[in-house]
Amino acid sequence: MWIEAASAEHQRAFDEWGKCDRLEIKTCRPIIDGKRIPASHEAIVFAFLADGLEEPVGRFRYFDINPRNRSAEFGYTVNPIYRKQGMGTKMLITAINQIFSTTEINKLYCQTAAFNIASVRLLEKLCFCRDGILREHHELNGKLWDDYIYSILRSEWENRKFFNNKFT
Ligand SMILES: CC(C)(COP(=O)(O)OP(=O)(O)OC[C@H]1O[C@@H](n2cnc3c(N)ncnc32)[C@H](O)[C@@H]1OP(=O)(O)O)[C@@H](O)C(=O)NCCC(=O)NCCS
Repeated sequence: MWIEAASAEHQRAFDEWGKCDRLEIKTCRPIIDGKRIPASHEAIVFAFLADGLEEPVGRFRYFDINPRNRSAEFGYTVNPIYRKQGMGTKMLITAINQIFSTTEINKLYCQTAAFNIASVRLLEKLCFCRDGILREHHELNGKLWDDYIYSILRSEWENRKFFNNKFT
């Protein structure tokens, strides 16, 4: 056996093989008219505000909404002035409650670096499941760190004490 760069002729053969297998088996992405729909770059963004403060306390965004498996990825940032005061915890609880109560999304997931202690602590405090480790995936200062994928399912969240807690 040997390898070589695939030619246009090889590519045509690969395309023919592709027709033998259902696309749904090969991808978890949505499929419309027999075509895989790539991730959209659009995001839904929430700003978190508090009485008496001019600037938002934090931002939460979710994106790559996959209507087939009903998942979405999310990211979050707390205004640096208000970190370590419980704002991140309140913000995530509020955002997750909002998403699960107003959409059909079944799973929310995010990717965070192993060195990001605040983020890891926040997700574990909210009982997210660490689904996987992307080993040596995240370069920082010349070192390759692991990234973690965390997720929460609708069914898990609905059994948590945070479900539908309201924070103002
Ligand atoms: C991650 C982030 C959102 C946390 O927000 P926050 O408002 O500081 O979080 P909270 O105050 O609710 O703290 C959550 C938990 O993390 C802990 N924590 C927060 N900052 C920490 C730090 N720097 N070191 C260690 N623990 C920390 C808190 O003590 C708390 O745990 P506890 O309740 O057991 O004490 C904030 O640090 C941030 O915006 N970071 C930059 C953006 C980022 O990294 N986003 C995530 C990318 S996926």
